[in-house]
Amino acid sequence: MSELSTNLNNLDTFASIAPNIAFNPAQIEIRPVKENEIHYVADIITRSFHFDRGWMAWFTPLFKIGIAEDLRNRLRTRVPSALHSKPQQQVCSIALCIDREQSHISGTVEVGVRTAERYRQNHHRYVYLSNLAVSKDFRRRGVAQKLIERCEQQTVEWGYTEIHLHVMGKNERGRNLYQKLGYEVVSSELVWSIIPWHRPERLFLRKQLGISGLVV
Ligand SMILES: CC(C)(COP(=O)(O)OP(=O)(O)OC[C@H]1O[C@@H](n2cnc3c(N)ncnc32)[C@H](O)[C@@H]1OP(=O)(O)O)[C@@H](O)C(=O)NCCC(=O)NCCS
Repeated sequence: MSELSTNLNNLDTFASIAPNIAFNPAQIEIRPVKENEIHYVADIITRSFHFDRGWMAWFTPLFKIGIAEDLRNRLRTRVPSALHSKPQQQVCSIALCIDREQSHISGTVEVGVRTAERYRQNHHRYVYLSNLAVSKDFRRRGVAQKLIERCEQQTVEWGYTEIHLHVMGKNERGRNLYQKLGYEVVSSELVWSIIPWHRPERLFLRKQLGISGLVV
């Protein structure tokens, strides 16, 4: 199976990678995605959220294009700060795992400021983390943890003290990850499903951050 890989000197190179690349957390670099890397992010999300399995495999190329275009639009739609005390902000970060010769795009996450409609009636805006995904070959090596820490740092830099996200109740890996990093469940809901008696549970999570960036 082809995977995502970029050469340090040519970030648009697409190559296959060996599944057992050795690296340690110090070799994980987090930075904002560049325009020419968005299709790699779309590929990681497509594979991580199983848009490439079963009947959906027929539509995988379309899913990828849709995910990439949505992301492009989100990153472009920024309201000038003169119009708002706190401007619309959205950042998509990627994790680069660096071994001796190459730098591999291994994971991605988005963080942005949203306007409350349902969850935070008393606070007009809140910070929301989404689309966290790590390539299968790079899992369980601290990539997601580093991506989330970068989002928390960004949240504090924007002047907010809380970060929020959703995770499906049956996503044990995700729930373990957020629990380990100090996220608490605020509420849960049953989401819509074509099978009325099998509505999956979705949890809304929050973490309090100190203004110094430390957890309070
Ligand atoms: C969930 C996901 C992002 C984790 O990425 P990762 O880089 O492997 O996670 P990390 O290595 O940073 O793991 C940090 C902690 O998360 C938890 N965790 C991660 N993978 C786990 C697994 N397979 N089983 C149980 N716990 C797991 C553990 O607590 C782990 O800490 P530990 O290694 O000290 O035990 C990744 O599995 C993924 O992309 N899954 C599919 C997409 C998804 O579910 N995204 C989250 C949506 S809310």
